[in-house]
Amino acid sequence: TEVFMLAAIVGYLLGSIPSGVLLARVMGLGNLREIGSGNIGATNVLRTGNKKAAALTLLFDAAKGAIAVLIARELWGESAAQIAALAAFLGHCFPVWLGFKGGKGVATFLGIMLALSWQIGLAACATWLFFAFALRYSSLAALMAAGLSPLWMVVLQKGELFFLGMIFAILIYWRHWENIHRLRAGTEPKIGKK
Ligand code: G3P
Repeated sequence: TEVFMLAAIVGYLLGSIPSGVLLARVMGLGNLREIGSGNIGATNVLRTGNKKAAALTLLFDAAKGAIAVLIARELWGESAAQIAALAAFLGHCFPVWLGFKGGKGVATFLGIMLALSWQIGLAACATWLFFAFALRYSSLAALMAAGLSPLWMVVLQKGELFFLGMIFAILIYWRHWENIHRLRAGTEPKIGKK
């Protein structure tokens, strides 16, 4: 259990790095909290109009999740990697540095999945891309990618990830509560729109 505590701490600290907020600040794009949805993720960084900053946010938020998994797996094995995965996701959503008001975890979830199983990671990324291009709503693409990931775990025979996949799906739905309301009301902005 000591090992699981360490994996949780390493995962949380990596996950809690708010790369969107930091990038927006150093690239002179202003306070993300006062832009668009106020969220700290790549989708909201894109609302500043700076595609490079949005791409970097996506990359860093995914990378921190992947790195947490890879470090924990290397040092402590597969169970610890799953603990670090969940902790990194929670770190992104509830970072101590931002008074526990963080993001929605989508990029971090994708990075985590790529590191846990590249097949599931690719399936989740492909699901996100498919719905993002087809429907143009980042949040809806995220809900589909998270919601379908447990199905991909069954189809691709990665049953050891199923429980974690269900937890991520539930957490991502919960974090997108406001987006779900906006989608139902028809007021959710499409990708790149304010
Ligand atoms: O990844 C977050 C995305 O799904 C929604 O972001 O800023 O539109 O609430 P946002």
